[in-house]
Amino acid sequence: MPPTTSPESMTFPFQRQCPFAPPPEYDRLRAGEPVAKVPMALGGSAWLVTRYEDVRTVLSSPAFSADGTRPGFPRILPGQAQILERPPFIRMDPPQHGFYRRMIIQEFTHKRIKTMRPAIQAAVDRLLDDLLAGPRPVDLVEAFALPVPSLVICELLGVPYDDHEFFQSRSRAALTRASTAEQFATALGELRAYMDGLITRKQQDPGDDLMSRLVTDHLEPVGELGRDELVMMCLMLLNAGHETTVNMISLGTMALLEHPDQLAALRSDPELLPGTVEELLRYLSIADFVTARIAAEDTELGGAAIRAGDGVIALLAAADWDPGAFPEPERFDVHRGKRHHVAFGYGVHQCIGQNLARMELEIAFSSLFERIPTLRLAASADELPYKHGTLLYGVHELPVTW
Ligand code: HEM
Repeated sequence: MPPTTSPESMTFPFQRQCPFAPPPEYDRLRAGEPVAKVPMALGGSAWLVTRYEDVRTVLSSPAFSADGTRPGFPRILPGQAQILERPPFIRMDPPQHGFYRRMIIQEFTHKRIKTMRPAIQAAVDRLLDDLLAGPRPVDLVEAFALPVPSLVICELLGVPYDDHEFFQSRSRAALTRASTAEQFATALGELRAYMDGLITRKQQDPGDDLMSRLVTDHLEPVGELGRDELVMMCLMLLNAGHETTVNMISLGTMALLEHPDQLAALRSDPELLPGTVEELLRYLSIADFVTARIAAEDTELGGAAIRAGDGVIALLAAADWDPGAFPEPERFDVHRGKRHHVAFGYGVHQCIGQNLARMELEIAFSSLFERIPTLRLAASADELPYKHGTLLYGVHELPVTW
């Protein structure tokens, strides 16, 4: 690495330069110092891990803790400290983590998710009917990419979709680096109050949905789940359920439109659809740095001596673009046929919603390109507003026409 790009002179998070590729710093770090201590924008420093195998080690070894209450846990967002005071199970270690994960795991099995296919397809069809009947160009994020996962997670949880403007705007405020700690606190407080009210309604009138089952089977005094814990768990599911998938649908559509040869290959052979979704997950790795950890003991990784209490970030986009694991990683190739990417994480915290996300993405892309074969971008890719200051990468608006 040239001296001007020494890890100490960098500040994390870095900005992506091209709409799809990870920040160029990742390649430089992987080549020079694959486990490197870098200053964080919010103060302090953390070890950045850029090699595929090292990322999997961090995410599967008990030497690295996901416990967000440990002092020094890496923070990306200004208000994050408030969530980390009493975090949901994504920021807990075993055995506590497994206790909570087991409460909902049966809601996300292959078999269970398959029963949702007709409802997801119907929602996608309705949205495309409306889109085709409306004016063009249209913002694909607002008209399609956001409502698909939002409708699906609302249905699964039993959250009224009519409230989507309220909770989406508050989530947006909570998930951006542009918010101050006060703005974050206000947004989180409103979301908590909303969920708390919904829990009361489920207690009085339970329905056939995940939240009602949690309330009926697990909430105190019948079960062992405190009310605050249930509130945070439902908020995590609501957020994780659509803030991720919306970015994959919009940015994934854009990646396919910007690679017409790959889109043509997919169109001529629908069997390529599952592989295309995997390749998009790898290529875009939109949840790049959600996988923060803290060292639970002194340990060695990739030649670096990590001390207990040091922050560590297992960079998913860096792993998924490691040429050692994916030859020519910059090539978007729907024939790649590899599923060992880490876009959904790895180890005990690996994404619980991955089967659901895969199904949503398959239905969204196949229906979109079948119903609108002449779909094209209505603006240049260089001019679009990308989500640089948020926890999850994506595009704020995607004007399209046909
Ligand atoms: C965990 C990515 C969709 C719920 C994770 C993790 C990643 C991830 C990287 C691991 C975090 C860590 O290790 O710290 C994604 C991507 C998605 C997606 C890229 C879409 C394409 C979903 C959906 C749900 C969901 C649809 C549905 C509710 C969760 C939950 C966890 C999680 C609850 C925590 C699991 C645990 O700690 O045991 N996701 N996710 N995700 N995801 Fe997803």
